[in-house]
Amino acid sequence: MTAEGEALVGGMMNAGAVFRRGALVERPAPRNARALHAHLLALKEHGFDAAPSPVGLTADGREQLTFVPGDVPLPPFPGWAMTGSALASVGSLLRRLHDAGAAVAVDTRAEWPRDLADPEGGTTLCHNDVCPDNVVFRDGRAAALIDFDFAAPGRPLWDIAMTARYWVPMLDPGSAAAALYPAGLEAPARLRILADGYGLPAGDRAELPGVVEQATEVCRAFVARRVADGDPLYLQALAERGGWERWDRVQAWLVDHRETFTAALLN
Ligand SMILES: Nc1ncnc2c1ncn2[C@@H]1O[C@H](COP(=O)(O)OP(=O)(O)O)[C@@H](O)[C@H]1O
Ligand SMILES: [Mg+2]
Repeated sequence: MTAEGEALVGGMMNAGAVFRRGALVERPAPRNARALHAHLLALKEHGFDAAPSPVGLTADGREQLTFVPGDVPLPPFPGWAMTGSALASVGSLLRRLHDAGAAVAVDTRAEWPRDLADPEGGTTLCHNDVCPDNVVFRDGRAAALIDFDFAAPGRPLWDIAMTARYWVPMLDPGSAAAALYPAGLEAPARLRILADGYGLPAGDRAELPGVVEQATEVCRAFVARRVADGDPLYLQALAERGGWERWDRVQAWLVDHRETFTAALLN
């Protein structure tokens, strides 16, 4: 505990800069914080209470949000966070976000971050970064999404693909082990569980494996930009997890298994 509060660990982008002070969390405000806070408050009015409530912005560029009690799975990811029922609950939570979003227009004048945004655009606010360390669990179920720094308008299917990348995960077994997931996670069956938890319609299911490939390309390009900028966190993470070879391997694995994923989703 410091004068700033208790440091919260979990993320990478704002590592060392997220603090809890009692019922509040303070973290660096994203550039579009005003539009994002307005959107989160509107979602809340439409019944989506599974996110921190924005409380305010400080003069020194930080945002204040409510602290959401519960457990956040951090690497090495614990078994309880990787069960089928935990995965299904992530799908249904994402569906709730998108359903509430259908009634709230995205502010098109705001500068939503492009980093992980759906290149095809869309009208639903996608979280875009539903990784385990951005989900709060209670009683074994996903109870809230946190860290909307990359949220941007897009297709709901894009957000599902992004979520699948982290939660299935959509990685070859060697890459999943390097990213500290437990061994033995069956990707095709888990992709199906996520889609079922979301309630994904058949037409979208057929498209999902291709959108996961597209999302993986966008994530790779994001890392490449950070590395080109000399960002030490991304340089280190890339080196530790097997460099560009790992990305090549993941992308080849996705293409090789496209039919397997489609069959698991539709049959
Ligand atoms: N509102 C919140 N309620 C509960 N825990 C939070 C909240 N905000 C952040 N945390 C915790 O702090 C960690 C880092 O915060 P996050 O906002 O995700 O930072 P980063 O941008 O670095 O990923 C999270 O993984 C979570 O464990
Ligand atoms: Mg985070």
